[in-house]
Amino acid sequence: MSMTQGRLEVRGAAKQFRVGGVPLPVLDSVDLSVSPGEFLTIVGTSGCGKSTLLRLIAGLDADYGGEITYDGARVAGPDLDRGLVFQEPRLFPWLTVAQNIALGLLNARLSEAAKKRSVVGHIELVGLAGFEDAYPHQLSGGMAQRAAIARGLVNRPGLLLLDEPFARLQNELQRIWARERITMMLVTHDVEEAVYLGDRVVVMAPRPGRIAATFDVGLPYPRDRADPVLLGVRNAVMAALEATTEPQDGQPIGSVLPQRVRSSGLLGGMPVPISA
Ligand SMILES: Nc1ncnc2c1ncn2[C@@H]1O[C@H](COP(=O)(O)OP(=O)(O)OP(=O)(O)O)[C@@H](O)[C@H]1O
Ligand SMILES: [Mg+2]
Repeated sequence: MSMTQGRLEVRGAAKQFRVGGVPLPVLDSVDLSVSPGEFLTIVGTSGCGKSTLLRLIAGLDADYGGEITYDGARVAGPDLDRGLVFQEPRLFPWLTVAQNIALGLLNARLSEAAKKRSVVGHIELVGLAGFEDAYPHQLSGGMAQRAAIARGLVNRPGLLLLDEPFARLQNELQRIWARERITMMLVTHDVEEAVYLGDRVVVMAPRPGRIAATFDVGLPYPRDRADPVLLGVRNAVMAALEATTEPQDGQPIGSVLPQRVRSSGLLGGMPVPISA
């Protein structure tokens, strides 16, 4: 069990990549505080920097501007107390479900027996009991995602970062969050899911990725999907999300991009280099 609090502070976070030799500002001035035990959800158009932000928080990329601290310490590398479930399940095909999940405990200071108990417990938690010895190719997409979530949870991190886990895991995620009492940050394309699960919903805007709006859902759990308050927040989030894809100040969004990078118009306007 994590001995830390799980408080995350993101202050003026900025990230730039180089695409075709051109600097591409991906995140700019991202400010975010996440309280211990909070369930924060993030929505935003494709390519707006959601995965990049989670990678920075997970410590997979220490080359960023601004400051990200977790329980007061600057995030400069990965840590067992911050788990990340990637956008794709990334299971090793030659390992079974149980072996894949046990990888999450590779560096944990636990006895072999305690590791085994934790693996079994988390397989049950995500609803995969009976599939311990199955290989990834024998799983459905959603089951592979569950295995990836179990691998992220098996260390009992204080903070779990979830990058678009397969849709329709809402109830399981809520149950896990309530039981494990950890801080969760979930990226999703599904506004309904974001509002149904989140204490707060963050809407990100693209190019450069930044926080456009934050909504407090303010409803206790478990929630009723038909709750009019929930529907009201959903409409507000959708409107905020749509506003991020509209041209601002009479300028097309593409005009803020470096000269040699243009919106492809595909994938939600993900910028692609048009020349090397
Ligand atoms: N390693 C990299 N090198 C160069 N550019 C990158 C790299 N990783 C991401 N980018 C760019 O950063 C931007 C944000 O990417 P990111 O993966 O964070 O988006 P996202 O919001 O997670 O999108 P999606 O919803 O499609 O998953 C994109 O324009 C992408 O092209
Ligand atoms: Mg992503």
